[in-house]
Amino acid sequence: MTTLNETIQIDRPAREVFQYVSDFATCMEWDATAIETERLDDQPVGVGTRYKVVCEAPVGKLPLEYEIVEYEPDHKIVLIGRGRFFEVEDTILVTPTSSGCELDYTAVFTWKPWLERFAQKMEPGLKRMGYASVQKGLKAALDDDFPAPELSEENARADRFVPTALVRFTKRGYKRGAKKLFNPMSRYMGDKHVVLTGATAGLGKATAEFLAYRGAKLTLVVRNREKGEELVRELKARTGNRHIGLEIADLSLIADADKVVANLSKKGEPIDVLINNAGALFNPRQETSEGLEQSFALLLLSPFRLTEGLKPLLKKAANARGEARVINVVSGGMYSQKLKVWDLQNEQDKYSGSVAYARCKRALMIKTEQWAEDWADDGIVINAMHPGWADTPGVETALPEFHKLTRLVLRTPEEGADTINWLAVASEAGQLSGKLFLDREPRTTHLTDSTRESAESREQLRDILDNWDNTRASDKAA
Ligand SMILES: NC(=O)c1ccc[n+]([C@@H]2O[C@H](COP(=O)([O-])OP(=O)(O)OC[C@H]3O[C@@H](n4cnc5c(N)ncnc54)[C@H](OP(=O)(O)O)[C@@H]3O)[C@@H](O)[C@H]2O)c1
Repeated sequence: MTTLNETIQIDRPAREVFQYVSDFATCMEWDATAIETERLDDQPVGVGTRYKVVCEAPVGKLPLEYEIVEYEPDHKIVLIGRGRFFEVEDTILVTPTSSGCELDYTAVFTWKPWLERFAQKMEPGLKRMGYASVQKGLKAALDDDFPAPELSEENARADRFVPTALVRFTKRGYKRGAKKLFNPMSRYMGDKHVVLTGATAGLGKATAEFLAYRGAKLTLVVRNREKGEELVRELKARTGNRHIGLEIADLSLIADADKVVANLSKKGEPIDVLINNAGALFNPRQETSEGLEQSFALLLLSPFRLTEGLKPLLKKAANARGEARVINVVSGGMYSQKLKVWDLQNEQDKYSGSVAYARCKRALMIKTEQWAEDWADDGIVINAMHPGWADTPGVETALPEFHKLTRLVLRTPEEGADTINWLAVASEAGQLSGKLFLDREPRTTHLTDSTRESAESREQLRDILDNWDNTRASDKAA
């Protein structure tokens, strides 16, 4: 038997610390040897929850199956891990102190009989691993004091050449980012309210699940009530999070977007994070029952109305808790297009769904930069991200040929959604505003100069969106 014990002091409430460590899916973020974790069941964290953890050991990859055997909320968790060479009992105790809490971590290894005689030899290495995991990894994760990321020289170089920039859109880009850059995200979300659009599929669904596990209060804006209710049932059962509600809205209808704003404003609950994720690519060109071209309505005007309309609730959260965040999900497709401010509804050229989509995302990126400037003193940070290429129902349906061709290199929805989650949760993400992110790193908004818009077009875009109702009313009157 070998016993390791480490104790650390953390300047945070016990509840926050417990919430983070008790979900062993986070151990990848701080354990010195874990390289993969996976939940093995669909149940809230508690007695019986099982995880697969793959560790990198001198003998190679070591898969372990962990199970929670004791769970005392906010205080104690005991896990048993079973592997080829040993069984390990991990006991984590969190105790409040005058300045925060103390975390005590004990791991007791019981070796397979044929390994007992080597146990003594392995002890120094294990002790080093325990120290690195708790005193360094877990302590840094819980101190949560990471610097805001900057564009790395390597990615800046990759973005100067379109083919290498595109390689970063694939699974490979995610894996490279995850290996080098990703810091733990232990910020407490149990007191945060997140409004998320397009939660019923793809990236939005992956984000909803991640945030539900983190304990955030969620308002999911979905267009299909049945699908929405099924999702809420599933998330509640799987994560144990009871605070998940719905707003029903077809966001290609501006009246519906405005209705969401009116409903949420009436409830008056502060919004800590607004995620404008709902999206689709339309072929052929179609207009909504409000007479707007669909891509423009869903991908630009609707997120614009939601964001502007919900600003008072974002501000309320910023006043109460120091900050609020808006995350606009755009697309790498925007790199191919320049803002065409005189044709926002894609009427003048021969219509292409991909071009219309890319132009709307380009315009939403520009709005993100303008909001960041305009709202700099309001405590609201606003950023955009693009997910690279992820295998979602949206991509499979709208781009079947592209999907067939790239299937093997597409990211999973979880990998595509990772930067949305990071922008919503990570403390350091709150230090930046008006940026475009891929894999948790700010990236260039133009791969070539040919897509750069003029200062005048940017101002025109601002005017058109700000004065949309007045312009429409006078168009109708004419
Ligand atoms: N996947 C990628 O590789 C990729 C790449 C670049 C950008 N993006 C962007 O990422 C976001 C999510 O895309 P995804 O790939 O996850 O797509 P997805 O699998 O098609 O999911 C889209 C979500 O948006 C919802 N939605 C679509 N139209 C809506 C409407 N009119 N009103 C309300 N909700 C609506 C869908 O609801 P239903 O379930 O009811 O259909 C679904 O929940 C989009 O903004 C997309 O442009 C994705």
